[in-house]
Amino acid sequence: MTSSDERFMRRALELAERGRGLTSPNPMVGAVVVAPSGAVVGEGVHMKAGAPHAEIEALRAAGPRARGAMLYLTLEPCAHQGRTPPCATAIVGAGVARVVAPLVDPNPLVAGRGFEVLRRAGVEVAVGLLAEEAALQNRVFFTAMRERRPHVTLKAAMTLDGKIADTQGASRWITGERARARAHRLRSEADAIIVGVTTVLRDDPELTVRLDEPWPREPYRVALDTEGRTPPGARFMSAGDPARAVVAVGDGVPEERVRPLRAVGATVIRCPTRDGRVDLGFLLGELFAREVRGVLVEGGGEVHAAFLDAGLVDRVAVFLAPLLVGGRAAPSVVGGAGRELKNGVRLGPLTVTPVGDDILVEADVIRGPREA
Ligand SMILES: NC(=O)c1ccc[n+]([C@@H]2O[C@H](COP(=O)([O-])OP(=O)(O)OC[C@H]3O[C@@H](n4cnc5c(N)ncnc54)[C@H](OP(=O)(O)O)[C@@H]3O)[C@@H](O)[C@H]2O)c1
Repeated sequence: MTSSDERFMRRALELAERGRGLTSPNPMVGAVVVAPSGAVVGEGVHMKAGAPHAEIEALRAAGPRARGAMLYLTLEPCAHQGRTPPCATAIVGAGVARVVAPLVDPNPLVAGRGFEVLRRAGVEVAVGLLAEEAALQNRVFFTAMRERRPHVTLKAAMTLDGKIADTQGASRWITGERARARAHRLRSEADAIIVGVTTVLRDDPELTVRLDEPWPREPYRVALDTEGRTPPGARFMSAGDPARAVVAVGDGVPEERVRPLRAVGATVIRCPTRDGRVDLGFLLGELFAREVRGVLVEGGGEVHAAFLDAGLVDRVAVFLAPLLVGGRAAPSVVGGAGRELKNGVRLGPLTVTPVGDDILVEADVIRGPREA
């Protein structure tokens, strides 16, 4: 691989980024076609499921100049008929001489088959360039494909002393306007937003994406509510498409309890219970089956603790406000029974971003045995 290979791959990754939050259940993908002279003759981005894949856009832009050219692609081309025809065949048909890609597509429908089609047709294939960058860009898609469940980000806003509400349960607004706007950006990248029923009863959130510009995708708005206590008039029920308001109840809840929820158009998912509460793994499986790939868990502390205890958190995103409220009874960002220090959930390197007067701290959860 050469330095120009890296330059074109960086450009492809930059193009892919334009699809952030728009492509689910598909990954973000960018493509660049480069003629033997070194001139870029076509670029493409995958902008939404059902729309052309990035390589098809780029090949279209290149036209006959794709013959003998190199194609830089941020993910393996598909080899199956999905919402659109297989891309690997189109690449061969266009006469591309060499394909450079960072990664094999973890989607079992692709998983090496796209490269196989290319190689068999005599196209040179180079895999591995900027693999780490490409995997991070599509971390949600990769986790979802590997785990066969959505990628889970735990998101909260807390005071410097770790409280997500005061002793009265008030939590509006801990952070400033810019942090709240950033939180809506996080929502725009998710396919579902999950809260506990206590948060629904106390805060009555809408769980919608509210950005300066209208957002074309609407995440599911989900309440964890074992006993079916969600009021049919709760704001998240009517804040968008009623069917995308989901109440996850225990399987023992009598039908008359959930009938009023169904009557306002909500989707009720009956879940088995674990320790008397909605089984989170089951619910994530149900959401995955509805094409949810990325989930934002927005509290409260009990729900955060439950996801962590179930080993179902991949990433945390915590806004930290320059505020102290104290109070033994005020909820903290992770409730539950707590852990011994030696059993704490370990996080990878913290990314710290100032957002207005607040800061956003993000990190991935580290799995596997603890290092000595
Ligand atoms: N600052 C922030 O970012 C932020 C965000 C959200 C909330 N808050 C604040 O947090 C407070 C509420 O937090 P909270 O911890 O008391 O309650 P919570 O986490 O919102 O809700 C907990 C309830 O969810 C239900 N639930 C269903 N399945 C569950 C499961 N598998 N695991 C855990 N819970 C499950 C349980 O009730 P059932 O057993 O009846 O189902 C449980 O009691 C409020 O004061 C709110 O203002 C702050």
